[in-house]
Amino acid sequence: MAFNKRVKIKAVLDQNLIGQEITLMGWVRTKRSNKNVSFIALNDGSIITNYQVVADPNLISEEILKKCSTGACLKVSGIVVESQGAGQSSELHAKSIEILGEADPEKFPLQPKKHSLEFLRDIAHLRMRTNTFGAVFRVRHALAFAVHKYFNDRGFFYIHTPIITASDAEGAGEMFRVTTLDLKNLPKDEAGGIDFKQDFFEKETNLTVSGQLEGELAAMALGEIYTFGPTFRAENSNTTRHLAEFWMIEPEMAFYDAEDNQNLAEDFLKYVINYALENCAEDLQFLDQRAADEEKAKPAEQRAELGLIEKLKFVVENDFVRLTYTEAIDILRNSNHNKKKKFQYLIDSWGADLQSEHERYLVEKHFKKPVILTDYPKEIKAFYMRQNEDGKTVAAMDILFPGIGEIVGGSQREERLDRLTQRMQEMHIPEEELWWYLDTRRFGANPHAGFGLGFERMVLFVTGMGNIRDVIAFPRTPGNAEF
Ligand code: 4AD
Ligand code: MG
Repeated sequence: MAFNKRVKIKAVLDQNLIGQEITLMGWVRTKRSNKNVSFIALNDGSIITNYQVVADPNLISEEILKKCSTGACLKVSGIVVESQGAGQSSELHAKSIEILGEADPEKFPLQPKKHSLEFLRDIAHLRMRTNTFGAVFRVRHALAFAVHKYFNDRGFFYIHTPIITASDAEGAGEMFRVTTLDLKNLPKDEAGGIDFKQDFFEKETNLTVSGQLEGELAAMALGEIYTFGPTFRAENSNTTRHLAEFWMIEPEMAFYDAEDNQNLAEDFLKYVINYALENCAEDLQFLDQRAADEEKAKPAEQRAELGLIEKLKFVVENDFVRLTYTEAIDILRNSNHNKKKKFQYLIDSWGADLQSEHERYLVEKHFKKPVILTDYPKEIKAFYMRQNEDGKTVAAMDILFPGIGEIVGGSQREERLDRLTQRMQEMHIPEEELWWYLDTRRFGANPHAGFGLGFERMVLFVTGMGNIRDVIAFPRTPGNAEF
């Protein structure tokens, strides 16, 4: 049941409407005319395919036809007729065309030709009207829906954690401040510092980097929960993998240990990718071809071995490799890549933080599969991760994907109050700020675990796009908050 009288192009293509009179509404992609007839390719966003409208100049005035230029928005009523041409089974023979919105061909920036992704980023307000971005955002939607479906079907509850927070969950200090103080006239306290007691929340607040800590509180009441919300990081990394504002999915499960957590994460990632394969066939076919064209432009030795759809199927059908950080360091240290000094950061000792070049070496060159790396040195991980018996490592896991690097970060949590507070002291995290978090270790503590999936990194992987700025509608990156 539609709420207006137009029919979506997807519905016209899915059903047999031959002979019926219908109304389409959408945007002109291209128009070809001769003296006898005009062919208008219309797209309404419901599907990647354009629908052919056939306009007879005896029925549609020249003035109207002239305005059916690329980018214009039309309301077309007519009869669905079996198509003579190859490719499409039916077309619409227009009885009337109403111009809903003109697009001056001299000024409309999108032309029926291939624009560069960089150019399209500058016109992000229009880029969703291209095939590439239409496909990306339909796939993004399907992935988000699959996330909710996966958890809902398994009895996880969706929790909305706060966006404004007074704590730094990851302890990395890369936060955006939230304040209503007058920046030109900051109130001072007795010691000469800024008096945050006069700020809106009467304390320092920031945009959250993660919903995890609050998610843990919910897991200790509801059992299995997940969050799916925006997170913010003021890290100045201008890479193809980092956004200042990105969406994260964070499941948190009571009674899970590190291995249960890994099993869930692997199953979840495969489910979501498979959902896209099953529900976004046309869009993925298009993106597969787009990626293949990009590959052709690269030197032979840099080309991907698998096409996009092949790669997605490969991930769904094969077990991820699981190994510890210590094992990974051995592999990296002994690799020819390291010996020939091809890494920018050479691996010489245990304890080094892995850079994305190392992660990608493991996934793309060594194992050629997604990898779950576990048991990292405690020094390079957050305070809340459960301490292993060796006294050196924590029950962390990072999941590394080909072409992406880290896509998931998670851990079993430290549920033992004494160990947790000791680690917080070592890392100079004030206990007073997290009194509520520590209370869960005082009252009904339990083993539990969780992880965070960077949603845009998943969209990047599934769409085969090369830059994270092209999988979120309006990216926020250093120096850019347009639109
Ligand atoms: O590894 P991270 O920092 O882990 C956490 O925030 C934990 N609280 C998660 C948890 O255990 N509940 O971030 C999780 C994921 C990363 O693996 C990456 O995919 C993504 O978030 N991510 C980013 N994505 C885009 N831009 C950035 N700047 C990102 N930083 C992290
Ligand atoms: Mg991480």
